[in-house]
Amino acid sequence: MQLSNDVFIIGTGESKYGELWERSLREISVEAGLKAIESSGIRTKDLDAIYMGNSLSGMISGQENIGALMSDYAGIADEDVPTLRIEASTASGAAAVYEAYLSIKSGEYDLVMVGGVEKMTELYGNEMIDISSSILDREWEAFFGGTPAAMAALSARKYMKDFGVGKDVMAAISVNDHKNASMNPTAHFSNIITMEQAINSTPVAEPLNLMDCAPQSDGASSIILASEEFVKREKKEGVKIAGSGISQEYFALHSRDSLYSMKSTVSASRKALQKAKVGLNDISFAEIHDSFSIYGVMALEDIGFAERGKAKDLVFSDIGLKGRIPINPSGGLKAKGFPYGASGVGQFVEGYLQIMGKAGKRQVENAKYGLLHSVAGTGSTSIVHILGGE
Ligand code: COA
Repeated sequence: MQLSNDVFIIGTGESKYGELWERSLREISVEAGLKAIESSGIRTKDLDAIYMGNSLSGMISGQENIGALMSDYAGIADEDVPTLRIEASTASGAAAVYEAYLSIKSGEYDLVMVGGVEKMTELYGNEMIDISSSILDREWEAFFGGTPAAMAALSARKYMKDFGVGKDVMAAISVNDHKNASMNPTAHFSNIITMEQAINSTPVAEPLNLMDCAPQSDGASSIILASEEFVKREKKEGVKIAGSGISQEYFALHSRDSLYSMKSTVSASRKALQKAKVGLNDISFAEIHDSFSIYGVMALEDIGFAERGKAKDLVFSDIGLKGRIPINPSGGLKAKGFPYGASGVGQFVEGYLQIMGKAGKRQVENAKYGLLHSVAGTGSTSIVHILGGE
């Protein structure tokens, strides 16, 4: 096979995100996959491989080996399409896309499906918080009572103290997310919230309130990636993955230089922009990993949309759909929802719709380049992709 220069997204599909009590892991995953196949107009027998992003199905649903399971349940078990699960905690979906992208870039594959799925609402209460805490360092963080919300609260407290800002800087991220999600039919939440409602919502881990936290959502997203050669041969339309970067840093929060900067995000976004040969000024919109609103604030600064400590100059006026840099047109993790293994793939669904001009009421005008940012845990791994361009 010949080396492929560029990789394109040629179709997408997803289930609704939310509390899907009546639906199973396999049902929502197959729904998203079949929609992506339909939207791209491909035949399953032409697929070279399937990569599935998933983080916690073993612990939540007691179901491992979900790659093979999904391919069987989708009715393609006899088509000999290798299907693997990729796990990178809350960045599992983006990691699956990254691996699929490399497999096409290498020239080995021409047509690959990427799915992301998580069923978060099978369990609840302390059991679910304990399982969520497995994305932290079990021995040194979770064992001593650390939960994802508690770790994010440490970052928020330090940020607020060092830069003399209030909760409103974080709340602005959530308010923007809910507004955009109200225009996204697959989003978990469709309600608009005010700054007052966000700031006065139920405390979760001081200073973070309910409206600073992404929900535990069920959901599945899927995309079809194709080589440039396939796109030309089959006369498909698509959105190019212009560049990607993946970076790593210390696992536990206490090992890091800063509580409010993820070095992995700083590095991954630089790599991705460099590979795409574009600057931040070229970016028309960004989907950022705001599992907690403070992580959204940090992402804006780590990526470089705002200087350190200055996100406050951006979030109140410039992140809306018509703002200087529209953030999370999909509704983000906070309001579109946060099924761990699906969210990274879901960002690609939004990126594709925006650049194809198919995002309906939440369409960003002249969307040309999109930046997609996904994080594992509290920042040990960050994955950034740039979509768009000729
Ligand atoms: N934002 C807005 N509303 C939310 C919400 C959220 N994050 N989470 C739950 N709700 C709503 C539910 O829809 C429900 O509303 P209803 O009564 O109208 O049906 C109500 O609040 C209670 O829901 P419930 O599922 O009982 O919430 P909970 O108290 O079990 O969980 C959190 C709330 C914030 C603790 C949970 O969403 C959470 O742990 N989020 C963080 C996820 C996480 O750790 N991620 C790791 C990232 S690194």
